[in-house]
Amino acid sequence: MRTVALILAAGRGERLGAGQPKGLIALAGRSLFEWSAAALGQAAGVDAVLPVLPAGCLAAAQALDRVWTGPARLLEAVEGGARRQDSVEHGLAAARGRLPELSWVLVHDAARCLVAPRDAEAALAAARATGAALPVVPPADTVKLLDGDRVRRTLERDQLGLALTPQAFRAEILAEALDKARRDGFTGTDCASLVERLGVEVRVFPGRPGNWKVTHAADLERAAAALAGGGRGA
Ligand code: C5P
Repeated sequence: MRTVALILAAGRGERLGAGQPKGLIALAGRSLFEWSAAALGQAAGVDAVLPVLPAGCLAAAQALDRVWTGPARLLEAVEGGARRQDSVEHGLAAARGRLPELSWVLVHDAARCLVAPRDAEAALAAARATGAALPVVPPADTVKLLDGDRVRRTLERDQLGLALTPQAFRAEILAEALDKARRDGFTGTDCASLVERLGVEVRVFPGRPGNWKVTHAADLERAAAALAGGGRGA
């Protein structure tokens, strides 16, 4: 049994408007993908970590290689694709080629740079039952289902969960979900949405609110302060 953590950092980060890919932005001395990779590399049960970087940016992995302390192996980074799920496909194909006994895959957004090893451990434990699991947090706000500029209805807040990462999957389930999405022309914003389409039961477990995603420019300062203070607590 082998487990790999894919660190997705191949997005352009347009909402951030930083003029460079979000995952490569440095905060508190390390880039977002380096913080994420280092945390997942310390999780129990993770054998290898594989960064998925923007095209033309593979050299960014060299600095991480020099300071890598594991204990998981750091695999050679690969280039991502146009969509998030294309980046997952590239990472999964590379991981399968390098780890012949690959059984489990964690997929993590590099932009959640406050991730802690225990987040990965919790995802792997929750996924054991059905082969797929993700952390969720309750929405802080009331959520409306919209129809253009009109409210269609208000959703029951206790039935809603915001999807975080790392998400954990059996390798063959994730591969099948990616294949089916490609065949059907379906694009999802996370991996669980692809797996749901197979009819596989996706388990959820309480995510850690502190594992939030750097998305907008105002998030950078808050994340830098938390990282500098070792802030993976809440
Ligand atoms: O845009 P968003 O923040 O939802 O992206 C989630 C994660 O997926 C980010 O870490 C981003 O770098 C990654 N991604 C990727 N390849 C893409 C698009 C997004 O690796 N083509």
